[in-house]
Amino acid sequence: MSGEAAIRRAVVEDAAELAALAERTFVQAFGARNRPEDLELHVRTSYGVEIQRSEILDADVATFVVECDGELIAYVQLAQGAVPPGVSGARPIEIRRFYVDAPWHGRGLAQRLMSAAVDFAADAGADVIWLGVWEENPRGIAFYRKCGFSVVGAHTFVVGTDPQRDVLMARRAGRDSVP
Ligand SMILES: CC(C)(COP(=O)(O)OP(=O)(O)OC[C@H]1O[C@@H](n2cnc3c(N)ncnc32)[C@H](O)[C@@H]1OP(=O)(O)O)[C@@H](O)C(=O)NCCC(=O)NCCS
Repeated sequence: MSGEAAIRRAVVEDAAELAALAERTFVQAFGARNRPEDLELHVRTSYGVEIQRSEILDADVATFVVECDGELIAYVQLAQGAVPPGVSGARPIEIRRFYVDAPWHGRGLAQRLMSAAVDFAADAGADVIWLGVWEENPRGIAFYRKCGFSVVGAHTFVVGTDPQRDVLMARRAGRDSVP
């Protein structure tokens, strides 16, 4: 992890490595606090070469990856889609996934990736960026607060068969409010 970390839009050739990164980072973050059968079901239905390939090709999804020394070490996915109650704005966009590989936590990479996501949202014409984060993820919530998000509600996110409470957070899409 000595080289320069570069952020770029994902391409289909990234699908296999992105699938591996997505599974690895989800398990790192949440594996210990979910039942193995729920984790296995979530992983099986969310991550895989074909799944990430179709996400990369989806016109309503924007996937950015961070590459360092030829390896993917973080990614973010933004998506246009259904917007839950509590999220305002005429043109909201969702940060659907935001994951940094564990060795890179606490090193400022997440802030750089968030800036890229905010720039993309602004360029795409969004006025509000929103996301859901598990209520039992204090570091994630603290990170998003640091990035200018505030709590606007809550909704349910199902991991496997387990309905979990996600905190809904939102912020303006303008670049000027990036800390
Ligand atoms: C969430 C994530 C992207 C944040 O990136 P990061 O580099 O770890 O972020 P930071 O180190 O800046 O931490 C953010 C804040 O969390 C708090 N924090 C740090 N370590 C913490 C810990 N162990 N427990 C609770 N809060 C913690 C601090 O307030 C910190 O801000 P500060 O350093 O200015 O005090 C990263 O931790 C990650 O990928 N986690 C796993 C996936 C995830 O949870 N994604 C988001 C939800 S889908």
